[in-house]
Amino acid sequence: MVKKITDRVSWVGKTDWELKRFHGDELSTDRGSSYNAYLVRDEKTVLIDTVWRPYDREFVSRLKETTDLHAIDYIVMQHNEVDHSGALMELMREIPDTPIYCTKKGEAILRGHYHQNWHFVNVRTGDKLSLGSVELTFIEAPMLHWPDTMFSYLSGEEILFSNDAFGQHFASESLYDDGVEEQEALMYEAMKYYANILCPFSAMVGRKVKELQAMQLPIKLICPSHGLIWRKQPALIVEKYQQWADAYQEQRVTIAYDTMWQSTRLMAEAIADGIRDVLPAYEVKLMNAAKDDKNDILTEMFRSRAVLVGSPTVNNGYTYAIAGLLEMMKGMKLKKKLGAAFGSYGWSGEAAKQIAEHLATAGLDVSVEGYRTPWVPDEEALAQCRAFGQEFAKQLA
Ligand code: FEO
Repeated sequence: MVKKITDRVSWVGKTDWELKRFHGDELSTDRGSSYNAYLVRDEKTVLIDTVWRPYDREFVSRLKETTDLHAIDYIVMQHNEVDHSGALMELMREIPDTPIYCTKKGEAILRGHYHQNWHFVNVRTGDKLSLGSVELTFIEAPMLHWPDTMFSYLSGEEILFSNDAFGQHFASESLYDDGVEEQEALMYEAMKYYANILCPFSAMVGRKVKELQAMQLPIKLICPSHGLIWRKQPALIVEKYQQWADAYQEQRVTIAYDTMWQSTRLMAEAIADGIRDVLPAYEVKLMNAAKDDKNDILTEMFRSRAVLVGSPTVNNGYTYAIAGLLEMMKGMKLKKKLGAAFGSYGWSGEAAKQIAEHLATAGLDVSVEGYRTPWVPDEEALAQCRAFGQEFAKQLA
């Protein structure tokens, strides 16, 4: 369905209510998502982005309901991952000569994906595309989320089209942030999106946000490529990004563990009690790496001051769930967070030490060796776990 945003601008994207996994199985999208594409009609008509390939025919046929495809003068591809470029083949079959405005890297990615010799026009930061009474200004934004990414600013309407940046995986009947009741859920999804997709590129996000703020563009709407348009207070999500990009932390500690026969769980709970003894104002969150959603765990880690990871020793290592989590943590490039490892064991007992080494490799500040307890912890062993938690928490006090 086409939805009007202003007299000139319409949403021509696709709401994907049933999307539960994104990037293969890497990212959970519990609230669905949308692939936002926009049509701007002035003296010239421009299409900004398309949708994911499974919806390519639907996208093109709905586009035809609102415009003669041959009336589209330009296509702007802000980022060419398949969730945004997937409908291009279907569209370009109908209008093969329409120029595609994108960055140089965008052209390389489109060529690499679709192997077509389309009419590419490379643009850089500051380049403008006049549509008649309004114009688009392009702003390169590499690594937000791929090297090809750029934003487009529409004068006259004061709209920033930001592609992946400022997005959320959130399907809704409303196009706008102020059109949904679940405000807390919306901000959580925005943070989960940042933590799981953009966090590795925080240095570049921070610089880009500063650059954007220095441009002092009047912005009425931020139109991302996923989820809701920021209308209520668009500056707020920009400020959030500034905070999230700068070694973000709240008064929280996340303890992620796996357990085979409950010993490591008992350790985790005793350690949590010890942390709460010293830091009563902190939220200490226990999450089972094998049972809780991995992306929710990473989001909790992202917003924490400290992260502890525990696993029993199995076959001279740690469990499958912990291995996956450690690999994902490494990719996040977390900054300025304390880390520690723990785990139960029967005989060899390597897991805690190995996890501690992995946490240090992932960039966490790990000052203690992995904490271990043999077999099933008794009251005395649990008291020692609690004391370990207290000592760890004193580093944060
Ligand atoms: Fe929504 Fe990086 O694609």
